[in-house]
Amino acid sequence: MNTLLTTVNEIFAAEQFVHEPVRLYEPIDYTLRLGGKRIRPVMLLAANRMFGGSLDTVRHAAIGIEVFHNFTLLHDDLMDRSPLRRGQPTVYRKWDENTAILSGDTMFALAWRYFLVQPHHRLQEILQCFNQTAIEVCEGQQYDMNFETADHVTVDDYMMMIRLKTAVLLAGALKIGALYADAPAADIDHLYQFGIHLGLAFQLQDDLLDAYGDTATFGKQTGQDIRDNKKTYLYLQALQHADPAQQAELRSLFSSTPADSDDKVSRVLAIYHQLGIRRQVEDSIQQQFLLAQQHLDAIRVDDSQKTPLRQLMDTLFDRKK
Ligand code: IPE
Ligand code: IPE
Ligand code: MG
Ligand code: MG
Ligand code: MG
Repeated sequence: MNTLLTTVNEIFAAEQFVHEPVRLYEPIDYTLRLGGKRIRPVMLLAANRMFGGSLDTVRHAAIGIEVFHNFTLLHDDLMDRSPLRRGQPTVYRKWDENTAILSGDTMFALAWRYFLVQPHHRLQEILQCFNQTAIEVCEGQQYDMNFETADHVTVDDYMMMIRLKTAVLLAGALKIGALYADAPAADIDHLYQFGIHLGLAFQLQDDLLDAYGDTATFGKQTGQDIRDNKKTYLYLQALQHADPAQQAELRSLFSSTPADSDDKVSRVLAIYHQLGIRRQVEDSIQQQFLLAQQHLDAIRVDDSQKTPLRQLMDTLFDRKK
């Protein structure tokens, strides 16, 4: 995993993102240079290598998948009104809203260009996977926004929403890496399901860190989901376990946007604490990691080939950012 991360970092260091007009490309360069965990390109490379692929065939796809991910972040931060990303001001805050829209749109197109650089006999399937993934991410983002104001969101609704907005991109990155290496269809299916469960765990962790993380380490302002009335897993579990008085307070807090949002955050966290929500979410995360592991185990390659993905799982398991 570490060697693959080094490889991904080297690939990005060698890439030029600033062109004319600078006002369009500078925010793109800013975002991509801030780094982040780079898990999607690492997963793409790991899947490719697991089935005997070569770095040269997937170099541009690895950049493409990360540029796509970063495009979603520019738009997501605008939609969520988030001030911080990777410890720095978000693009719409540092520049303005129009910049986040247009530089983001450009990144989506650039992602396609990276995928189109190298010919490959399975490029049609690869692009279909990328295209379907991109559509699903947008669907997930719309459900996420719908749920902010929806009265009845179930845990199943929430799991469907995070599968779309987050998990399919991790699964898609793996599938694309495997397609470049001509992996067998049955193994690609297990790899995809591995990515889905890893992605579900990853978004549950993101929701948990949003409530309990440390802003300096997490790189995003904590309490943002509560401020935005996001119907996260934490909120849904809390509603399920709350007594009528707590339920009424939660519902009222999650239908308001007060000027003093810090007070709202602490009141919600107090209820979560009374109900032991943190522990419940940690258990669900663990369950998703176990399901992911079962799919990884089922892939028919030598176990040593799975080491980078197992290491990635280990680093994600107790991530703080
Ligand atoms: C943030 O993704 C968006 C989510 C799916 C939660 P990451 O947590 O992978 O963000 P970076 O790229 O490491 O900053
Ligand atoms: C992540 O949702 C989904 C996408 C960015 C597509 P979040 O809104 O929870 O992501 P963060 O927490 O802002 O990174
Ligand atoms: Mg967000
Ligand atoms: Mg969001
Ligand atoms: Mg989040």
